Amino acid sequence: MKIKIDPQNFIENARTLDGKKVLVRAISKNDKPLLVDETEHMSQKSMYYRFFTPKRQLTDKELVYFTELDYHAHVGLLALVEEPGGFVHAGCGRYLVFSKNDSSAEVAFDIKDEYQGHGIGTILFNSLCTIAKSEGISEFKAFVLAENLKMMEVFDHANLPMTKRYRPSGVIEVSMKLDA
Ligand SMILES: CC(C)(COP(=O)(O)OP(=O)(O)OC[C@H]1O[C@@H](n2cnc3c(N)ncnc32)[C@H](O)[C@@H]1OP(=O)(O)O)[C@@H](O)C(=O)NCCC(=O)NCCS
Repeated sequence: MKIKIDPQNFIENARTLDGKKVLVRAISKNDKPLLVDETEHMSQKSMYYRFFTPKRQLTDKELVYFTELDYHAHVGLLALVEEPGGFVHAGCGRYLVFSKNDSSAEVAFDIKDEYQGHGIGTILFNSLCTIAKSEGISEFKAFVLAENLKMMEVFDHANLPMTKRYRPSGVIEVSMKLDA
């Protein structure tokens, strides 16, 4: 029997590549301070890779948009990493269904600079794939700057059937099949 996952109450335990405990859970409206802190801990380069424009912080409107989700068309997850003082926020991953009744969604991630390269983007991507499949989503798309090798590595490691369209703007449109 296929088990339906409730995206709003999603919780998963994992480990970083260096063995630290990771707790993945759904983003809630109370997580605004975590997202403010996250963007303050992201370099200009990381912010550019995420938003494709120079950006220092999220606006109030963006904070609402990124934390007050419907858990259907817009699903978001946080990754918390266990440090000596307790769990700290390391980054987010989310997907957005393109349009109503569409089975295709855009994925995007933002991991604090000090936590990049520790496997957290990969953990979040796998969790989003699990939820999306349960929700009947058949394809993920991502828009990735060509020089963003870490993002492409996360997608390449997933071994999903993938097509890449190189746009003249320097952005790669990546399409990944989830139902293969
Ligand atoms: C792009 C981004 C989301 C990737 O997340 P991440 O947590 O840094 O990625 P991961 O650590 O899971 O994977 C990347 C690296 O870890 C390695 N890795 C991850 N899981 C692995 C595993 N199980 N075994 C071996 N290697 C692994 C990858 O090969 C890769 O190696 P590298 O550090 O030499 O590049 C993150 O770097 C980020 O937020 N960047 C800024 C914003 C951004 O680019 N957003 C994407 C917009 S679409």
